[in-house]
Amino acid sequence: MPFLDFSGETIVMTHSDAEIDALLDMDLGMGDEDWTPTPHGRFLAQVLAEHNMVEGKSVLELGGGVGNHSIILARQNPSHLVITEVTEGLLATTRENVERNVPGADFVEYRVADWLDLDGQFDVLVSNPPFARSGRQNRRYFIDELILNSHKRLTAGGELVFIQSSMADIHRTRRDLKRNGFDSRIVDQASGAFRDYYFEDKAFMAEIELVPDGYERDEEDNYIETLFVIAATLMPWTPPDFAHIPTELRDS
Ligand SMILES: C[S@@+](CC[C@H](N)C(=O)[O-])C[C@H]1O[C@@H](n2cnc3c(N)ncnc32)[C@H](O)[C@@H]1O
Repeated sequence: MPFLDFSGETIVMTHSDAEIDALLDMDLGMGDEDWTPTPHGRFLAQVLAEHNMVEGKSVLELGGGVGNHSIILARQNPSHLVITEVTEGLLATTRENVERNVPGADFVEYRVADWLDLDGQFDVLVSNPPFARSGRQNRRYFIDELILNSHKRLTAGGELVFIQSSMADIHRTRRDLKRNGFDSRIVDQASGAFRDYYFEDKAFMAEIELVPDGYERDEEDNYIETLFVIAATLMPWTPPDFAHIPTELRDS
C-alpha cells in the first residue's frame, strides 16, 4: 500500500484541461518581501483550478501572498471574495496582481488582518497557512488556529480548504478537525522532495522525527514529503441544554 494514500476520498475533476490551463495562466509581479510560491502553493493552485469550490459563494482567503490562489478564486465567479495579508505592503502586491490578471473584479475586497482577526462570515475559507517558516514556537500555530477558530468566520455548513505537509501531521489535523465539528476529506495529494531550507533548520529536522508518517525516504534515500489539500465542512452542532452558556450567547 502506498505511503499515506487517501486517494479514495478524492472528488471528481470538474474542468477540462483547457479550462484548468486558463485558470492557471497568470502574470505575477513580486518584490523582495513577498512570499515566492513554493510546491505547496503550486499544488494548491492546481487543485483549486481543477475543483471549483467557490462559484456563487462568499469566500475568504487568508494570506493571499502574490495572489497565485486569489486570481484563480476570482476567476471562478464567487459572489464576494475577501483577501487578507498581514501588512499593507504585502497586500499591495496581492491587489496589483489580482487587478492586473482579473480586471474589473469589483466583488474582490482587500483587508489587512492578522489571520482570523477580522469581521464577517463566509461560505468558504481558503488558505496555504505558514508552517515550516511560521515563526511560531508551535510551528502548526496557523493550522491549529484554522481548526479551532475558523468556525467564527464560516457560515453554517461552510467549508475550510487548506494545504499542509505530512510533516505538519496529517493524522493530528484530521483528528482535531473531527473533534472541532468538521467533516474532512482529502481533495488531492502529491509527494515531492524536501526543499533545501528544511535541512538548514536543525530544529525543524528534529521535530519532524516525532511526527507519525511525517516523511518517507525513496530508493535513493531522498527525503520525501506528501502535500495534502484538505476540505473540511463545518457540521451543525447545538450545545446540550445542560451546557453552562448564557441564553443570549447560545447561537454564536
Ligand atoms: C505560505 S504563504 C502562502 C502565500 C500564497 N497564498 C501562496 O500560496 O504562495 C503564507 C502567507 O501568509 C501570510 N501571513 C503570515 N502571517 C500572517 C498573518 N498573521 N495573517 C495573515 N497572513 C499572514 C504571509 O505573508 C504569506 O503571504
